[in-house]
Amino acid sequence: MKQLSPATTPPPSGLRAALRHEDDKQAWVDWLFSRVARRYDLGNDIMSLGWHTRWKERLIERAAPQPGEHVLDLACGTGDVTLKIAPRVAPGVVVGTDINPQMMACARGKPAPGSGSVRWVGADATYLPFADGSFDLVTCAYAGRGFPDWPATLREVHRVLRPGGRFLNLDFARPPSPAWDRAYRGWMIVSGAVLGTVLHKNPKTYVYIPMSMGAYPGQRWLDARMREIGFDTRLEETLGCLMAYNIGLKAP
Ligand SMILES: C[S@@+](CC[C@H](N)C(=O)[O-])C[C@H]1O[C@@H](n2cnc3c(N)ncnc32)[C@H](O)[C@@H]1O
Repeated sequence: MKQLSPATTPPPSGLRAALRHEDDKQAWVDWLFSRVARRYDLGNDIMSLGWHTRWKERLIERAAPQPGEHVLDLACGTGDVTLKIAPRVAPGVVVGTDINPQMMACARGKPAPGSGSVRWVGADATYLPFADGSFDLVTCAYAGRGFPDWPATLREVHRVLRPGGRFLNLDFARPPSPAWDRAYRGWMIVSGAVLGTVLHKNPKTYVYIPMSMGAYPGQRWLDARMREIGFDTRLEETLGCLMAYNIGLKAP
């Protein structure tokens, strides 16, 4: 199993170049989230004007976690989705997992309703340390774009789900209109640079979001990869195709 990456200094390659290479990309992502961890929730609230909570709640509504289920929240970050799922699955378990120790430290430090149902496990999404068929449901919010190898992670998700298990992924979407896509990412580059400077004294921190979106083939590509791996899929594009829910069902 791969070792978890420690917090690093930013890799020497620029962000744009790093997004094209698996190892450099992970090193950038590790550096970035180590740097923003303590103010990650605040940054999300400001960037989305509080709406990220609503989008995550919609993810959980669609996932419909049931009492007694075993759920994996992949790349859980500071634990937003994990902690919302916890009271719904008791006496089952939700496992929040992430590669970044600083992000996980923030998650562990939060008061947890239904906390008896929460476990925190540091892990790389490319090599999940769980047995085949051990989860009823896997969720993932705003993280897939940053994975060095999304298809490898999808295979892991498929492996750890039981037959009939479901996978729900929420992320920014790539709008099919190139003009709308460019305008949206352009706005995020400008607002992200301002927010990164104010919150973290580094404009690059939030510019990662639109840059990684630019390097991401998008929700329709992800839907096709999920089908190749064996999921029955459904794709919901919302907010003028700025946000997408990729939903997959593993064959029973
Ligand atoms: C934008 S945050 C999303 C956090 C959380 N899911 C949320 O919605 O607030 C992306 C997360 O993906 C994690 N991540 C990036 N690469 C990863 C990998 N290879 N394995 C596991 N987690 C990873 C980062 O450490 C970070 O916490």
